[in-house]
Amino acid sequence: MPRFGLGVWKTDNRTSRDSVAAAIKNGYLAIDTARQYGNEQGTGAGIKLGLEQAGLKRSDLFVTTKLYNGEQGDYDQVSKAFENQLKDLGLDYVDLYLMHWPVDKTYIESYHAMEKLYREGKVRAIGVSNFDNDRMEKLLEEAEIIPTVNQMEFNPTNQEHEILAFDQSHDIEMTAWSPLGGGESLTNPVIDALAKKYDRSAAQIILRWEWQRDIITVVKSTHEKRIIQNSQIFDFSLSDEDVQKINELDQGRRGLWYDDFQWHNPNGKVANGIDQWP
Ligand code: A2P
Repeated sequence: MPRFGLGVWKTDNRTSRDSVAAAIKNGYLAIDTARQYGNEQGTGAGIKLGLEQAGLKRSDLFVTTKLYNGEQGDYDQVSKAFENQLKDLGLDYVDLYLMHWPVDKTYIESYHAMEKLYREGKVRAIGVSNFDNDRMEKLLEEAEIIPTVNQMEFNPTNQEHEILAFDQSHDIEMTAWSPLGGGESLTNPVIDALAKKYDRSAAQIILRWEWQRDIITVVKSTHEKRIIQNSQIFDFSLSDEDVQKINELDQGRRGLWYDDFQWHNPNGKVANGIDQWP
């Protein structure tokens, strides 16, 4: 899979269509969405438009979407949910189907349903998202197909060392969501100093760091200029010393997580209404 792409969390259908089309037109080959974002129709329209504008085929693009927490369950349930997603996306397959979050009561059963979708050829690969090591371990005991990726919140202040080490030891790739820390890492003084040193934007420094850390990245922007800028990270490299400087920014601080059947944010508050979350 392409190791760099566009994400569309927190964008409505119209904005998603425009940013997806702009990204494809400007060379992006991977698009990441989810049922929970409520923008699969817009994303699908953007894929169609972008491919036309770029003169590309569907098979040139890598499309990821995710199984919604509220639609987990047995095969009938999951396959119905998936078919609706395909319809909204206007596609006849997706390249990667991820379980969005491990909902404790249903994630094993739901994963088996996803394995069946994979065997039927409806999805080209399956994986998970937001899995801690305990849940991943349990999944690996039950799974027949090892998840290809675990998509986690990963950025300079949240580097998930233990999950990364565990997943890598099982050949599971990590993909970063919120690679810019929701924009927060952009104002970090260490990043700012590196931006000046390399004559790059703060976003480019962080995205290049993720690239050099071997993390697959999906970054969101709704502005074409930034969409272009974010992809221009392949003509420079950070020194090992500077990669290390960013490694040292880790505070193990997630913006959001799900545990004990509840959503949490950094203030310890339980977030209401899962629909607003990634
Ligand atoms: P926008 O969509 O207005 O460009 P993350 O992927 O970590 O969640 O971060 C996404 C946030 O970072 C969004 O609010 C996005 O805003 C912003 N962003 C993305 N790329 C850039 C950039 N190159 N410069 C500044 N802000 C950016």
